[in-house]
Amino acid sequence: MESKKEIIRVFEGFAGYGGASYAMKRVNKLSRKIRFQVVGYSEICQSAIDLYNANHKQRNGKLLKNWGDITKIKEIELPDFDMFTGGFPCQPFSTAGSRNGELDPRGSLFADIVRICREKRPKYLFLENVVSLCRGKCKPTYDAILDIFDVIGYDVRTVILNSADYGIPQSRQRLWFFGKRKDSGSLPDDFSMTPKIVPLKHFIEEFLDEHPNEELYRTQLQIDHIKDIHGKPQDYFHVAERLCYDYYNRKIRTDRICMTITPPNHNVVRIVEPPVNGMDRFRKLSIDEHFRLMGFKITDKYREIHYPEHLTYRELGERAGNGWEINLVTILLKHIFNQL
Ligand SMILES: C[S@@+](CC[C@H](N)C(=O)[O-])C[C@H]1O[C@@H](n2cnc3c(N)ncnc32)[C@H](O)[C@@H]1O
Repeated sequence: MESKKEIIRVFEGFAGYGGASYAMKRVNKLSRKIRFQVVGYSEICQSAIDLYNANHKQRNGKLLKNWGDITKIKEIELPDFDMFTGGFPCQPFSTAGSRNGELDPRGSLFADIVRICREKRPKYLFLENVVSLCRGKCKPTYDAILDIFDVIGYDVRTVILNSADYGIPQSRQRLWFFGKRKDSGSLPDDFSMTPKIVPLKHFIEEFLDEHPNEELYRTQLQIDHIKDIHGKPQDYFHVAERLCYDYYNRKIRTDRICMTITPPNHNVVRIVEPPVNGMDRFRKLSIDEHFRLMGFKITDKYREIHYPEHLTYRELGERAGNGWEINLVTILLKHIFNQL
């Protein structure tokens, strides 16, 4: 059966911890039609590279080649591949000019995706960005991105999806792009980028550690200070179950969903727990909790991700906050390739 599968060679740009790789491995196990095979990746952040190498290898056990800074990759030297994946950091670029190749994305990392895809002509593109890219003052950049893909020969569709609609109790909205090279046959007219929404069955409690490390907790003095600056009454954190405190909007989320996971330097205190001996319980997420909420299976008996020992809480939290939520990506990739 394995030998009959269509092999889709993938170049994983802006790889982070390899969110695309994780999802593709899951799809490989489930699909009878296709098998994704990563042929190389590009990443510049050392903690991401270490995390990637600790968790993804070639079939022969060797490390995958990291091509490093995408701006320095000589596209002609890359191996052939069938799909480019990447969550590209978004720098707005000039949208002056009009269609038909006059748009000039130079100076943006998006330009490097275009440069590489122009040379390598992968059949598919699978990209991600923050939702604000397609709204407000970024909208012209978004329109220009779609125009450029059209000009270089790709039929591209986009969608905004929320992880909380697909099984993970995290409110995480992201913008997804899927493109197919037009000369390989355009996408079907009824092509859908929206997998069927599934009501949440598992809520935040099930994603939290049974016995969180005491180091994660704030002192009563620190909690009183937060209540003070957020204008909350003394008993505000007297909850009956473990819930997320949405630090940005200054409120406890009673829907039992976690706010968007962001790098820990943004807002570290996220979990409020029932008081113990009259004392409030308010804490950061552990690293395992970060990754569970990013779709990873982590139990006492099984871990889908291994952390190199030298990586710190901040580095790992940063990787999680910037990563792809892999449950959603698996569902989206399956949904897309089932239609091709
Ligand atoms: C939004 S994150 C992508 C996360 C990734 N999809 C994952 O699942 O973890 C963007 C990544 O691009 C990387 N990056 C930024 N500039 C880069 C460059 N010039 N070349 C290669 N990677 C770059 C960052 O270090 C970061 O890990």
